Amino acid sequence: MSADLSVVFTGIRFENPFLLASAPPTESESNILRAFEAGWGGVVTKTIGLHPVVNVAGAKTKFLRSDIETPRISMKNRPASVLHSSWNWELISDKPMDWWVGRLSKIKKAHPSKVLVASIMAGSGSDKELHNWQLLTKACQNEGVDALELNFSCPHMDRDDMGSNIGKSQGLCSVVTQAVKEVAKVPVWCKLTPSTTDIAVEAGAAFRGGADAISSSNTFPSIPLIDPETLEFEMSVDGYTSSGGLGGPAILPLALAKMSRMTRAFPDKSFSGIGGVSDFSHALNYFLLGCGTVQVCTAAMLDHAIGPNVIRTLKQGMAEFLEKNAHRGWRSLEDFRGLRRDNVVPQSQIRRPNPDEYHGGHEAEGYAAPEPAPELSKKA
Ligand SMILES: Cc1cc2nc3c(=O)[nH]c(=O)nc-3n(C[C@H](O)[C@H](O)[C@H](O)COP(=O)(O)O)c2cc1C
Repeated sequence: MSADLSVVFTGIRFENPFLLASAPPTESESNILRAFEAGWGGVVTKTIGLHPVVNVAGAKTKFLRSDIETPRISMKNRPASVLHSSWNWELISDKPMDWWVGRLSKIKKAHPSKVLVASIMAGSGSDKELHNWQLLTKACQNEGVDALELNFSCPHMDRDDMGSNIGKSQGLCSVVTQAVKEVAKVPVWCKLTPSTTDIAVEAGAAFRGGADAISSSNTFPSIPLIDPETLEFEMSVDGYTSSGGLGGPAILPLALAKMSRMTRAFPDKSFSGIGGVSDFSHALNYFLLGCGTVQVCTAAMLDHAIGPNVIRTLKQGMAEFLEKNAHRGWRSLEDFRGLRRDNVVPQSQIRRPNPDEYHGGHEAEGYAAPEPAPELSKKA
């Protein structure tokens, strides 16, 4: 009997827990159809908005590689190097909503058992913009999408009332989620930015607004490296660069730390893990921390644009893992999801060589009493 990889996440059945994340792999009808045929359990569309989108003049995405023999990290293509990360400053889909209407329903009809999630984005801070979130919600759900993912996380929007600027504000996370929930008939996932002090704060705000799940992480804010020969940024337009987003292998431990904060704070809520996944051993980290699905971008971009080999190895890896652990009675993701969530603890709770002598970095009796203030000289 072949392994059962299916999961139920936010009430939706997935034939496997692996999705293509919102990005170039999910920007066209043909790519999404190919992705479903290749075996992905779901896709999140490239983010759809209502405002005009004009990308920078020049390349939008490049890949950083580490040399195997030297410490060099560079975007230059060269032999004997391995993937370090992706770097992009691409905006959301430059295709208007009208382009997506008709296509989303066609995709869903062609693959009714696959999960189609629409990623959407509008501005914030005015009733008109909240209304735009509602227009996008209604337009996508009328097309038959299974869920919505609210993009509160793009780190390099040209407008400062959008993307990660929403994700950095508890108030906006709540208000926008609530506006969407007022009209949504399908589950609503909020994709949060990793660039805040404590992501659990914004997750809590999104849950208070009614979010059914949190997706994390989007790319991490970063700038391209400077070429030591030309002294130019490796990616620039007219010599100028700007903050963009780092994805791929380099962000896996960073994104896991963000996820761990949230799954510990909200053990009963739903989370979709994103960041640095290219095989099952990576995805397993997110599952063991409590995630119910995992999304992939960089690895798929580098594998025939939609990741046919990546999804094959993810599914095979999960099937082999279930088989290897069958003796523990594990039959599905639910049997091992969250198994290591509570093993992430504050530093002070990690055992010391002499536990009796350790007091969390403090003196045995608590803080030492402050030194008495020196007597002020009475002489004038
Ligand atoms: C070129 C590029 C474009 C992206 N566009 C979007 C987007 O439109 N909406 C979104 O929510 N995330 C977008 N992302 C972020 C990815 O969905 C994902 O969160 C991130 O790349 C981390 O996953 P990874 O390490 O598998 O690449 C984009 C990423 C890249 C590399």
